[in-house]
Amino acid sequence: MKLPLVELHLHIEGTLEPELIFELAERNGVAVPWATLAELRAQYEFTDLQSFLNLYYHNLDVLRQAADFTDLTRAYLARAADAGVRHAEIFFDPQAHTSRGIPLLTALGGVTDALGNSVADFGISTKLIVTFLRDRPADEALQILTEILASGYTIDGVGLDSAEVGYPPELFEEVFALAAANGLRRVAHAGEEGPPEYVWSALDRLGVERIDHGIRSLEDAALVERLVRERVPLTVCPFSNVRLRAIDTLADHPIVRMLDLGLLATVNSDDPAYFGGYIDDNLAALDAEFDLGPDRLALLARNGIEASFLEPAEKAALSLDVDAWRAAQP
Ligand code: ADE
Ligand code: ZN
Repeated sequence: MKLPLVELHLHIEGTLEPELIFELAERNGVAVPWATLAELRAQYEFTDLQSFLNLYYHNLDVLRQAADFTDLTRAYLARAADAGVRHAEIFFDPQAHTSRGIPLLTALGGVTDALGNSVADFGISTKLIVTFLRDRPADEALQILTEILASGYTIDGVGLDSAEVGYPPELFEEVFALAAANGLRRVAHAGEEGPPEYVWSALDRLGVERIDHGIRSLEDAALVERLVRERVPLTVCPFSNVRLRAIDTLADHPIVRMLDLGLLATVNSDDPAYFGGYIDDNLAALDAEFDLGPDRLALLARNGIEASFLEPAEKAALSLDVDAWRAAQP
């Protein structure tokens, strides 16, 4: 039996594997600047968040038709099922597509199609969180959200991502207020490269229920105290932090310290096609590095369940499966 996992920090665009880039380029007659997979893979060396985002946005050029988005999403779900994922709350960046001329509903429709069959085809329940690019104007985000709300497509929440430093959460107060007024859940990337003040702002000005990354919260004792007291989840992405040089090496990663502090930390893959692995790979590497053992692996799985936007009965059912997994371990 695999450890039942919940994934809460996963950009669907960040699951675009090199092989699929070449396949979609051929399907859509898009020229890519790399002759071989090896040449493309050689680009996957990052110095910071922006150096990654440059490649991430560039590679999206091959996604053109709704079916491309469906194939991308199904490929993630298939791999996630293999990892033991039972529930995924998936980020989708509409502006990464509308800004290059792809109609909003082509992209959203393609992703939604795959998610609609996810329980039947992959045994994974899903929620969809539309993430706004904080380095683009808030007015654009407001317009996209307004269009989605009028479209008839269902989304579950909104988030905030892309280049963080210089783009504080409060710029998006109006967008998040509209989301809240429409019953949507709210999350935001904060404290990935940005300072702890951005985490305070995401909580106080945007009303977010989870912080994505949040690792720089550890620099602020009063913030840690609040996050622990209010049980605000942090969706931590260890491979991402190392590959984007927020943390030097996996051995330096604070995930164990976070758990010891009583933070509601979860482990996630962020952009697995870019950072060296999926959620199971992240957990296996942490287990090897820190000797987590079955108790802390089960704790991380339970944290993911608690931090999710599932209903209480769904959480209880998944927790029983984690208990069964733990009971089967030595
Ligand atoms: N978009 C995709 N991955 C991201 C990350 N780790 N941080 C901010 N924006 C992102
Ligand atoms: Zn992210």
